[in-house]
Amino acid sequence: MNKPIAPELMQAAESVGSTGTQAMDAYWMPFTANRQFKKAPRLLTRADRMHYVDADGRQVLDGVAGLWCVNAGHNRPRIVKAIQDQAAEMDFAPPFQMAHPKAFELAERVAAIAPAGMGKVFFTNSGSESVDTALKMAIAYHRVRGEGQRTRLIGRERGYHGVNFGGISVGGMVANRKHFGSLLAGVDHIRHTHDPARNAFSRGQPAHGAEIADDLERLVALHDASTIAAVIVEPVAGSTGVLVPPQGYLQRLREICDRHGILLIFDEVITGFGRTGNPFAAQTFGVTPDMITCAKGLTNGCVPMGAVIVRDAIHDAFMSGPEHLIEFFHGYTYSAHPLACAAGIATLDTYADDGLLTRAKELEPYFADAVHSLKGEPNVIDVRNIGLVGGIELAPLPGEPTKRAFGAFLDCWQQGVLIRTTGDTIAMSPPLIIERAQIDELVDKVRGAIRRAA
Ligand SMILES: Cc1ncc(COP(=O)(O)O)c(C=O)c1O
Repeated sequence: MNKPIAPELMQAAESVGSTGTQAMDAYWMPFTANRQFKKAPRLLTRADRMHYVDADGRQVLDGVAGLWCVNAGHNRPRIVKAIQDQAAEMDFAPPFQMAHPKAFELAERVAAIAPAGMGKVFFTNSGSESVDTALKMAIAYHRVRGEGQRTRLIGRERGYHGVNFGGISVGGMVANRKHFGSLLAGVDHIRHTHDPARNAFSRGQPAHGAEIADDLERLVALHDASTIAAVIVEPVAGSTGVLVPPQGYLQRLREICDRHGILLIFDEVITGFGRTGNPFAAQTFGVTPDMITCAKGLTNGCVPMGAVIVRDAIHDAFMSGPEHLIEFFHGYTYSAHPLACAAGIATLDTYADDGLLTRAKELEPYFADAVHSLKGEPNVIDVRNIGLVGGIELAPLPGEPTKRAFGAFLDCWQQGVLIRTTGDTIAMSPPLIIERAQIDELVDKVRGAIRRAA
């Protein structure tokens, strides 16, 4: 039974005309200012290619691919049909000691676009689950090969690796950590790479900061390499404000990991599936990690799914002992769910048909010109870009961090454009099907919002 709607919510809802008689009490929204939202809701009801339609029937240009996931644009017919057909054919298949053909097919397809040597795919249901799966795999891998003392996990300041306990422990965002107790033991962090003093307004990869990777040597000296299982970083940090890796940084991190037998995990939940102009950012930056975590674009956001892509040698290390025994005690009821696998295969077909896994490379110069044209606008203190990702950092309002950028977000919404903000950075990551005129529209509306927020 629906509870009665609080009068003030009803009034607020009516004032924006977008909720009708929708009850809004029960839904506790994730990562949302719930009370503010329910006073002035922003409800999306339909979507097609580059646009949402809101509850008032307004068209909204999607500047963030939903939430960095709808890389092929919305409601692509091939993906919709694949999900419909699969639901009618087989709704669920248990993934433990059983399987269905599309799970194998999708794993092969993902391995085929992954960096060479990364041929094994473990399915999860989200980015957060992919991260926790990869961390467990890393520790278990060292154990099965006789180095069970390698249990320490290293993350990076300003990292975002989802919201499960492993992910927030290696993550480096204080708001996501401080409420949740002591987190995982045996975790440490290397320094983040953000260096506006030397790198502000860099186009693409900043020139300065490769040496920041040496911070890993500091932790090796402190803990001893023999205790460290893995290092996890986002090749491009998204949720902490679009931080592009300095030239040479990831190469140096790889070298240090190799020197000390430490596994390197790239969290590609937002960079996977074409965002930087290649299937994975590992290929864009020419650095091959030991594991890649991904989700989002794997199914074009249509059905929840994540994956960990693993170097063959890591997988093979588990394949010892009696053949009738389970090799890795981990998995989810919905790992390789048939609907997700059907969506994933149709998504990869759509990416291939439309050339989307490399389209960001073609559009990057145009997109970079557009976002860097915001330099000089009021309070813009940095502009960062790579592939089809742009970050516009605004000077915070004195004593009120995040408020200026959030104001720009609300302003853009009023103008019919969906962006995202994190701290005082505006992030743009449109579907990879975006046209040049739509890039202009997106950036011009952001420009207007920035001016009005001055
Ligand atoms: C780099 C990174 N890792 C992990 C996650 C968590 O993914 P999910 O929200 O699907 O759990 C995200 C989500 O944005 C992400 O950006």
